[in-house]
Amino acid sequence: MPIDVYNAILDQRLSELREDIFPRLRGHSHLTLEIGSGHGHFLTAYAEAHPGEFCVGVDLIADRLKRAERKSDRAGSGNVLWVQAEAGLLVEALPADCLLSRIFVLFPDPWPKRRHWKNRLIQPSFLDVLAAKSRLGAQLFFRTDHREYFSYASEVIGAHPLWRVDETLPWPFELVTVFQQRADQYQSLIVIRRDSHV
Ligand SMILES: C[S@@+](CC[C@H](N)C(=O)[O-])C[C@H]1O[C@@H](n2cnc3c(N)ncnc32)[C@H](O)[C@@H]1O
Repeated sequence: MPIDVYNAILDQRLSELREDIFPRLRGHSHLTLEIGSGHGHFLTAYAEAHPGEFCVGVDLIADRLKRAERKSDRAGSGNVLWVQAEAGLLVEALPADCLLSRIFVLFPDPWPKRRHWKNRLIQPSFLDVLAAKSRLGAQLFFRTDHREYFSYASEVIGAHPLWRVDETLPWPFELVTVFQQRADQYQSLIVIRRDSHV
């Protein structure tokens, strides 16, 4: 596909996303985002336990989001928004006055083959996009059962000027996700948005 056609499609998608989410995010200046929210078990429970936070779950798959929405409707949570989008595009589409405070990336697709590593969510360019929309001190919670992805993510995050791993903070909220239930072990990282000069 020619690059100008590709860019036009992306621009169109960004405008549609903005039209969809801007009215629903009005009045919420700090967000908790779950990327790859799947069937919504984690974020529904998290939102119920944190009524003072406004939560956004993003996933590529419509059917999973529908199920997630049914769960949060049943729970009566008024503080969750489910969005079907590619995560990077959603983050880019957020209103300028909306900043991310907490970001959860739980059991992301590990893309085990080296030639597919470029598809992994945790990449320097994605950390740039997240950093641009995160407040200073924002927390990124990453968890995976894939040992090699864990090492890869630790390295990519460790080398990024705007994020630092914090080994002292506790995991803020436990709820076993669908993929966590299938895992026989997992590892977690807590990462803080920092000032590049610090
Ligand atoms: C392995 S599943 C994990 C689901 C859930 N977090 C859990 O722990 O059970 C990964 C999820 O991320 C979603 N996903 C993958 N890449 C994505 C992207 N770039 N943007 C948004 N969602 C994405 C997939 O559709 C899938 O639902």
